Amino acid sequence: MFKIVTKRVLSAVNKLMEIEAPLVARKARPGQFIILRVRENGERIPLTVADSSKERGTITIIFQEIGKTTKELGSLQEGDYLSDFVGPLGRPMELPSSGRVVAVGGGVGIAPIYPKVKAFYDAGLEVISIIGARTADLLILEDEMRAVSSELHICTDDGTKGHHGFVSDLLQPLLDDTSKKIDEIIAVGPLPMMRVVAEQTRPYGVKTLVSLNPIMVDGTGMCGCCRVTVGGETKFSCVDGPVFDAHQVDFAELTRRSRTYLDKEKIALEKFEHECRCGGEK
Ligand code: NAD
Ligand code: FES
Repeated sequence: MFKIVTKRVLSAVNKLMEIEAPLVARKARPGQFIILRVRENGERIPLTVADSSKERGTITIIFQEIGKTTKELGSLQEGDYLSDFVGPLGRPMELPSSGRVVAVGGGVGIAPIYPKVKAFYDAGLEVISIIGARTADLLILEDEMRAVSSELHICTDDGTKGHHGFVSDLLQPLLDDTSKKIDEIIAVGPLPMMRVVAEQTRPYGVKTLVSLNPIMVDGTGMCGCCRVTVGGETKFSCVDGPVFDAHQVDFAELTRRSRTYLDKEKIALEKFEHECRCGGEK
């Protein structure tokens, strides 16, 4: 059993939890993820390690309450326990040895990009960060991102904070600025955003990475659920990724696959919300 030692509400839909998991914390590195189960026989969900502390023996996760399991997770309180917490999984991200990196985080994707930006910054790289959300109230980790970025640019879809528009709008002038060479771009967020960024940077020939979160089950390369085509080859996101070369990812296929269980997820969420309203067993 894994204790929730801290819980913070980041926005109307995003929550942060610090989980006591010393063995995972001892090995976790930026770019890796965990798989948790709220309770026995529950759904397994992958979440990026947003932060880790060897000293405290904890892993921080940030999640959006979007489906049944994330809502169930969000209903737990400090002092409650998760039944399973497995990791660290996936390949740690490789750090460039020097240069200028642009990090693009969209919505809840700001959570998985934060530890990568922190690692870049701690390694002495210049990090220009762009973060965006639908509206100001949904923008998460602004202070944390500012603390580990050389420059921070903010946007919202409705203009309630920063630039009025998408993260890709803010990336464009950086790509066009020939006085500042960009060595690497990393983008994490919803699939449409990562796909747009990949197409946007392709003509400039700038190395661009994305962190994918396809459907996962075992997280160990056995079930094949997380397969993604990269450079014409089948890769398993859980063991070969989750970070891949954005220009090689088949986003059309990935988008189709990510919709496979939408109807079942909707039914499970409706059932869970009905049970909560009736005070029944979750
Ligand atoms: P969202 O739809 O609110 O988008 C967040 C931001 O991304 C927007 O404010 C905008 O700046 C940018 N964006 C979105 N669509 C864009 C487009 N077509 N072109 C350019 N920019 C665009 O995102 P959200 O609701 O916070 O996130 C939910 C999604 O994120 C889910 O689909 C989830 O699967 C995904 N997600 C991905 C990861 C990952 O590791 N890649 C992790 C967690 C969640
Ligand atoms: Fe099963 Fe990746 S989640 S192979």
